[in-house]
Amino acid sequence: MHDGGLLQLRGMDRGAVVELLARAREFARQVGRESGARPIGADSGGESNGSESGARPIGSESRSTQRIGSESRSTPMVATMFFEDSTRTRLSFEIAARRLGVEALDIGPSSSTSKGETLVDSAKTIEAMGVDALIVRAGPSGAAHLIARHVSVPVINAGDGKHEHPTQGLLDCLTLCRALGRDDFDLSGVRVAIVGDVVSSRVARSAVAGFGALGAEVVCVGPVHLAPRSLEGLGCSVSHDLDGVIGDVDAVMMLRVQRERHGGTEVRRHEGGEWGAAGSVGAYRAGFALTAERAGRMKAGAVVMHPGPMNRGVEIDSEVADGARSLVTRQVAAGVVVRMAVIERALGGASG
Ligand code: MLT
Repeated sequence: MHDGGLLQLRGMDRGAVVELLARAREFARQVGRESGARPIGADSGGESNGSESGARPIGSESRSTQRIGSESRSTPMVATMFFEDSTRTRLSFEIAARRLGVEALDIGPSSSTSKGETLVDSAKTIEAMGVDALIVRAGPSGAAHLIARHVSVPVINAGDGKHEHPTQGLLDCLTLCRALGRDDFDLSGVRVAIVGDVVSSRVARSAVAGFGALGAEVVCVGPVHLAPRSLEGLGCSVSHDLDGVIGDVDAVMMLRVQRERHGGTEVRRHEGGEWGAAGSVGAYRAGFALTAERAGRMKAGAVVMHPGPMNRGVEIDSEVADGARSLVTRQVAAGVVVRMAVIERALGGASG
């Protein structure tokens, strides 16, 4: 297994997390300088979508200088193998790769796996064609680990089932540190609530690990079926009482109810009715949504996060999602620079 990949945040020590965050912040500053915009995650919330990062291309020449038929191995290549739906994460990885001068090849779900090939065989086939790293999203928890054990190039986990989504965890860490002015990436004394369908959420697992590595205290909040006590094994506490927690935390991360991961049964059990019917959404909202009224009870300076996709009017009100506390677009922007740092590390650093 190549050790330049990124499979999970759980078990990563503070030093390794901080190294990636610091590099991502450097990329964010370069983006800001090049575009004349404020750096991503700057205190006032300025974001940049500048098209050039100023990052030195990995490898000796950038794609644009190459001629057809010339020696092309100087441009590193990563393959995005997404066997589960994704728009934002795949695009974010692709943009990150391009900003580094790395070629990103998309292997969509229409690949040979639909003809019965295993994930491992697909990965080995793509590796044999000469790509330098694999970026993998797949439904089964542990899929990225499995692939990493069978290939010799680095594997970056872009979300595997209910297990982890480590680049999301890193971007959440970067966004929160910048928003709270923790420039040393020390979140000691910071309390974060992760609210909703925690049991299904790889985002939550990576966030608990990432925030924990930086010293924050995490409480997972949700109805008993979506936030069972067993989550405490991740290193967080568990609460079923959002109203008891909301006034006491520095950040609230809202999660979508991932009905596709439990066929609605967990939700139905809790709600006592069909999810989607106004009554059951209403019952969920009554206990666990970040409504404008609840957000009004948050501490001064406390912030709101959501990994997306958001279900407005279900787990979060539009006024909150678009309000002054919201870091949602900063999270998206931070995703690009975090993925630049992760891809760069996988490919052996800026000098290639
Ligand atoms: C994920 O990939 O896990 C998403 O970003 C979160 C979600 O689907 O709700």
